Amino acid sequence: MIKKKGTVYRLETPATTLVLKADTAQILYYGKKLVSADWCEALRSSPCRLFSEYGQGDFNEQSVLLVNADGGFSTNFVYSKSKILAEKPVLENLPSSYGESKTLELKYVDATKVALYLYYTVFEDTDAIAVSAKIVNGAKKEIHIKKLASVQAELTGRFEFITFNGAWARERRKNARAVCGGTFVNESRAGASSHAHNPFVMAKGEKGVFGFHLLYSGNHKESMTEYDGVTRVIAGINDFMFDWTLGAGEEFCAPEAAMCYAETEDALSRQMHAFAAEHVVRGKWKKRERPVLVNSWEGAYFDFNADSVVEMAKVSKDLGAELFVLDDGWFGRRNDDTSSLGDWSDNVEKLGCTLAELAERVRGCGLKFGIWIEPEMISEESELFRSRPAYAMRVPGRTPVRLRNQLALNMADEKVQNFVVRTVSDVISRCGASYVKWDYNRMLTDCFGKGVAAGEYFHRYMLGVYKVISKVVKRFPFVLFEGCAGGGARFDLGMMSYFPQIWTSDNTDARDRLQIQDGSSYGYPQSVMGAHVSASPNHQSGDSHPLETRFNVACGGLLGYELDVRKLSEKDKKTVAAQISFYKEHRKLLQFGNFYRLGDSFGGDYGGFISVSPDRGAAIAVIAAEKRTNVPPPRVAFKGLNPAYVYEVTARRQENYENNLSFTAGGDVLMCGELFFPDFYDDASARENSGCMYTRMFLIKKQKNL
Ligand code: GLA
Repeated sequence: MIKKKGTVYRLETPATTLVLKADTAQILYYGKKLVSADWCEALRSSPCRLFSEYGQGDFNEQSVLLVNADGGFSTNFVYSKSKILAEKPVLENLPSSYGESKTLELKYVDATKVALYLYYTVFEDTDAIAVSAKIVNGAKKEIHIKKLASVQAELTGRFEFITFNGAWARERRKNARAVCGGTFVNESRAGASSHAHNPFVMAKGEKGVFGFHLLYSGNHKESMTEYDGVTRVIAGINDFMFDWTLGAGEEFCAPEAAMCYAETEDALSRQMHAFAAEHVVRGKWKKRERPVLVNSWEGAYFDFNADSVVEMAKVSKDLGAELFVLDDGWFGRRNDDTSSLGDWSDNVEKLGCTLAELAERVRGCGLKFGIWIEPEMISEESELFRSRPAYAMRVPGRTPVRLRNQLALNMADEKVQNFVVRTVSDVISRCGASYVKWDYNRMLTDCFGKGVAAGEYFHRYMLGVYKVISKVVKRFPFVLFEGCAGGGARFDLGMMSYFPQIWTSDNTDARDRLQIQDGSSYGYPQSVMGAHVSASPNHQSGDSHPLETRFNVACGGLLGYELDVRKLSEKDKKTVAAQISFYKEHRKLLQFGNFYRLGDSFGGDYGGFISVSPDRGAAIAVIAAEKRTNVPPPRVAFKGLNPAYVYEVTARRQENYENNLSFTAGGDVLMCGELFFPDFYDDASARENSGCMYTRMFLIKKQKNL
């Protein structure tokens, strides 16, 4: 809801209030919901502003920076008008949120007739507010945009800048540092949102936690500047190399960002989850239970043919899986990662039949068929490279940097975009895929496109990618797309606007995964996180974990298996079948329940999660702890339950059901932090394995009111 009093607007979400003064571009208040009516007068002196520019005595990091037609680079955006829009403005070619909402549009104009528009969209059912910015060049000559952030929020007080950083196989580790007396930056220059610096950040202060989340998959930058007791948060496209020429009459839209406030990190996460699940993920798979899949990658890598795939599919079906995904290696002459990207024709020599025939055989086993593809890439060893070398992203006269032996395609080029739409569509149609894993396995280095200005390259690349993806997704509305980028290098709300789920990380080690999923859960719901049980010892870490542990951790996301199911022992097959059947029975709760992190997965006494049904009548929790000599098991607190309910709790053991511990307790007891399971480390299977992480899953069901 948006209320207006003169030029003051009050934006109300279920739990927060944002008060803006349009004419002075001030943020009068942002935080916990205000209920009193006479809010406006008391807040007038706020030092916080909605945007910042160069040339008016502000020397900190700015949100808008232009080079005017006359070569000067000062601006003075003065209030022009404001209005409430019933329809959310469309961001051409960019990902954006959607849904029942009201939008506040603010317009500021510089003497050069260049206009700055700011948009604030409020949804009835979520606390996240969508924010975007636009420049319209009303001048008679071209100007240059050196920077246009999606959002600026100035907050009074000092804050911790919390970011999610990492690398391949260890994405999104939470880091916090105090912001004091300067500018602190979280950014990607990799061409993708990156493994290293996720575009979700938080500002944590005395009054609570503010989240800023960009719906963008390319180079991004989030900065926090503390100056005179005010902390300025800016998020948007990275201004690294950015220089956008805007002709007379043209406009430029910055990508959308979501911002929200909550008293605790946990509450902020659930707001972000609700926003992603309700207003970002769209199409047939929105809030729809996701299939349990078996993926061929870690089970077979490049070593398979149609018969072995069908054998794996048959076993997968017996285990209860619903979808079989054929990963890398089915096309061109692809038998390792040195060739064939771009040649999306069937590798008949290897398969022994066409892809369509193989897909039909898999479907004949009673499973859906899914396929892997990496459409934005090209191998130099490929027909495509031989026939269309100009499609590759390269700087003329320079030896290109190869990452994973491959080059990227120049997605800023329309011909390349059309090629990708055509080839991907053809693959999907020809094998009748129900699921597509869309991979992207290198960051960008040799950024260059004929006719594309250097300062526009990164963004034009992304616009090209979005154009292609949105076309393909529209063409195949029933296909389930899973994004992927060498694991989780494009794990962002931009991609989630098109792909309802994303492969979280190439690291499937249960201990590492617990942390990666925990870090990811700050900004993203479990319903977007691909999470697979793989072989033990794990292929990335070399560590071993019991099958039960691997399953328990994968239940924190969208369950799949990524191992050679044929090689499972009969005992393990039984266990996997029981796991899948349990997961199917409870997947609505696991995939779409209210998610809370438990303990501290980064080195606390214990870590884990709990997913609670909206009515708080049911929950599933997973606790993980590292055994240390002569250290007792942890004292555990569940979260999110109703203190006024009595619950029946079953501490599940998968291999020895007789030992399942069952008890009843009030919700308040379960959350008080004194739960103690003396037999927690009494798990022969965990002891036999080299990893010392023990896990236990708890099924929690309401029995009665207190
Ligand atoms: C990337 C993905 C993996 C797998 C391989 C195939 O690394 O993240 O899941 O698909 O590519 O080459």
